Amino acid sequence: MSLVTEIDYGTPASRSDKMVTLTIDGIETHVPEGTSIMRAAMEVGTKIPKLCATDMLESFGSCRLCLVEIKGRAGTPASCTTPVAPGMIVYTQTDRLKALRKGVMELYISDHPLDCLTCAANGNCELQTEAGNVGLRDVRYGYEGANHLTEKKDESNPYFSYDPAKCIVCNRCVRACEEVQGTFALTIDGRGFGSRVSAGQAEPFLESECVSCGACVQACPTATLIEKSVIEIGQAEHSAVTTCAYCGVGCSFKAEMRGEELVRMVPYKDGKANHGHSCVKGRFAWGYANHRDRILKPMIRAKVSDPWREVSWDEAFAYAASEFKRIQEKYGKTSVGAITSSRCTNEETYLIQKLVRAGFGNNNVDTCARVCHSPTGYGLGTAFGTSAGTQDFDSVDEADVIMVVGANPTDGHPVFASRMKKRLREGAKLIVLDPRRIDLVRMPHIEADYHLPLQPGTNVAVLTALAHVIVTEGLVNEAFVRERCDPAEFQDWAEFVADERHSPEAVEKVSGVPAELIRKAARLYATGGNSAIYYGLGVTEHSQGSTTVLAIANLAMATGNLGRNGVGVNPLRGQNNVQGACDMGSFPHELAGYRHISDAGARAIYEKLWGVTLDKEPGLRIPNMLDAAVEGTFKGIYIEGEDILQSDPDTHHVASGLAAMECVIVQDLFLNETANYAHIFLPGSTFLEKDGTFTNAERRIQLVRKVMSPKNGYADWEITVKLAEAMGVPMNYRHPSEIMDEIAATTPSFAGVSFAKLDKVGSVQWPCNEKAPEGTPIMHIGGFKKGKGKFVLTEYVPTDERSGPRYPLLLTTGRILSHYNVGAQTRRTANVVWHEEDRLEIHPHDAEQRGVNEGDWVKVASRAGETTLRALVTDRVAPGVVYTTFHHPSTQVNVVTTDFSDWATNCPEFKVTAVQISRSNGPTDWQERYREQAEQSRRIFEAAEAAE
Ligand code: SF4
Ligand code: SF4
Ligand code: SF4
Ligand code: FES
Repeated sequence: MSLVTEIDYGTPASRSDKMVTLTIDGIETHVPEGTSIMRAAMEVGTKIPKLCATDMLESFGSCRLCLVEIKGRAGTPASCTTPVAPGMIVYTQTDRLKALRKGVMELYISDHPLDCLTCAANGNCELQTEAGNVGLRDVRYGYEGANHLTEKKDESNPYFSYDPAKCIVCNRCVRACEEVQGTFALTIDGRGFGSRVSAGQAEPFLESECVSCGACVQACPTATLIEKSVIEIGQAEHSAVTTCAYCGVGCSFKAEMRGEELVRMVPYKDGKANHGHSCVKGRFAWGYANHRDRILKPMIRAKVSDPWREVSWDEAFAYAASEFKRIQEKYGKTSVGAITSSRCTNEETYLIQKLVRAGFGNNNVDTCARVCHSPTGYGLGTAFGTSAGTQDFDSVDEADVIMVVGANPTDGHPVFASRMKKRLREGAKLIVLDPRRIDLVRMPHIEADYHLPLQPGTNVAVLTALAHVIVTEGLVNEAFVRERCDPAEFQDWAEFVADERHSPEAVEKVSGVPAELIRKAARLYATGGNSAIYYGLGVTEHSQGSTTVLAIANLAMATGNLGRNGVGVNPLRGQNNVQGACDMGSFPHELAGYRHISDAGARAIYEKLWGVTLDKEPGLRIPNMLDAAVEGTFKGIYIEGEDILQSDPDTHHVASGLAAMECVIVQDLFLNETANYAHIFLPGSTFLEKDGTFTNAERRIQLVRKVMSPKNGYADWEITVKLAEAMGVPMNYRHPSEIMDEIAATTPSFAGVSFAKLDKVGSVQWPCNEKAPEGTPIMHIGGFKKGKGKFVLTEYVPTDERSGPRYPLLLTTGRILSHYNVGAQTRRTANVVWHEEDRLEIHPHDAEQRGVNEGDWVKVASRAGETTLRALVTDRVAPGVVYTTFHHPSTQVNVVTTDFSDWATNCPEFKVTAVQISRSNGPTDWQERYREQAEQSRRIFEAAEAAE
């Protein structure tokens, strides 16, 4: 294997359709108008020396190394900032240019440490390469004069260091932070010789606004900004392109390796979801793969009170098979089931549903998408006929109005957020519907045009009020509705939303959003050009989650914002493979490709292939499995990659369900909270240790490539294969590509997908079949999958979870950038420096009423339970609303969330819990135990780091 390298063309590609012909060093070439001379030269294979230019950034023209001569023009312009012109004749290699470049380089090197041999970037440093390219052999000025060689390193960031002695002030880092990331954390302080890169107000990186995305590190042409892992391990020898295993953006990375050791993850420029950008998690937070907490041997125990006993894989599989067989013989076929995870690959998920359907003989399979985006599947499937988002991420570049509903992209989907911010800086308008003032509402160079700070639980009321304005003020796109939607259903809907009870003035009373704000936002969405809606779990995790998705779909259809670039309805999927988990048939009522289990034709395909008869009745959903366990009819479960005790609502109920089962199999990297109730633990593998595919929020299927051997011995798909075989279900797959072949052969929307194609083209978005062999970036062009778009009436039904005298505040939950879900992975990385614990955000007014000060311990009590955490007093939340994250088991926020759920899909109502807050003396006993464990792990971790 070799290192995957990408050509750096120096400046971004021009999007112009108009071509220009010019001659470079005697070679005639044709490039789009607006292309720089540097890029045009690179495209014909002529490299012009450069330092401040890179094709991820707009050209800047500061280093003066890329000078060229142009026939008929005086001087030596910089090729990175000079666009091509028709008939231009360019010379890149004259004696005059060589002398100029050598002189420029000589000045740089006279103020640069001469430590190439011991520098971590040796062999991968653009300054070193270009010094060689321009033929610099000595420096005439000596090194004694004024210089920056003794400036102090900044090692504050856990993942990269900044060594100003090596800085050539090319400004690439500053521009990367602005243009790519959109954080504006860096600046060049001072002037002339005194110019230095500065984070924030000349602060250490860790204390500045820096969000540790790594864009500056990637842009830096020297070892000034460099990954600490490269300093520790050395330069990589080989690499493979793979896909991030954290969020639904699905960033592509080059996993750069030395032998079987991961050196660094470098965002892949050709990745179609991220175009070379990343966030702190995918870029840096992969150390959990080597964490000492990983369990590498299978373990079993007869009772959960027994100690674990390490066993061979064969014994573990045989024990699991005998237990499930025993349970089914004693309690019946439907007494067992499985839960797949959105962390797993498509192939793994497919195998688990196959094991359940073909092996267990029932449909008791569900996925953690149940607790996040199941309403998306239901809502978009009902309205448009396809249970998925309508656009690719690139589409946002053509949006004129962006409406963000119940999502916090800068924390939850950071790489897409950077893209969105770029479009907003270019002038797109922004509407935010969120109870909390998320970062997008106001940040450097961005301010929402309208922020609708609605009360948690009132999404449907506000979205229907937006529709009221659109209908009653004559803003409906009549032509679109006439051509694309069911007219009778539209008419019913228009009459419904026009009713006075849906007016902004009426809705102001329940939502707290001023009527005028609703009116203005509606007018902007309907008339602002291309309007695109992006939404998240703040939409779905409600008792009316499915209704809210339908309300969003109604808005898009009524205004004709579907079926082209720049518009659409876009669920920002949470985990890396939420879309894939849903696609692969892991819901109890659906086979792969969203075919209902009652569909005899779809069942027949699998019955023939697998040689079994499938049950035509939908199986149990996760909450139903737990209910049935408490009732005594559900006794065995196989859970892969999900920690339901921490991630699902009403922890006490989850615990009761698990405790009532006779065989709980957990397959995971770590002994998670659910494993406390497990009888069999099967150690899982990381995404670095297996092949497969993930499908991101754009329906984009991308390869996950194995770059190291599984430390536990088997990739997860192999574990399921062996478990299935022990249970008597033949699974003769030699590689995940064969599983994908079966998926393609049996699922119409995946018919054109294969590992070979993905290897060749990088990625495809489903549907990918005969009609669309290269995939489908934008859905519903010209018509909906289901024929006519369906308007559904969206009556607002207040949740039964209401604040009152006993629980007067509404708790809502969310994520933070540095952590991921239950934090099992990110808590085992240096990301803990940014977020050591979950905090409760409370408005100053509510805090004062309760005598709560910043940092105080507070008790959060609901009718389901109580927990204790520290207060963060802030006006980001409105009075009456409190907010927290759920990343730390020492907080277990889901102890307080309730068992209310979406009427259509049972997606839990995580986002609305009535609570009371009171001062507390500190954590409860059970929390203290977790804190001690966490503190102990941190100390061991730090000691080991120091020893290394
Ligand atoms: S830190 Fe690197 S990218 Fe930034 S100015 Fe210095 S050399 Fe250029
Ligand atoms: S790591 Fe990202 S946010 Fe931090 S300074 Fe660099 S580019 Fe900016
Ligand atoms: S944005 Fe999501 S997919 Fe991309 S690097 Fe971050 S966590 Fe990974
Ligand atoms: S690369 Fe053109 S001026 Fe620096």
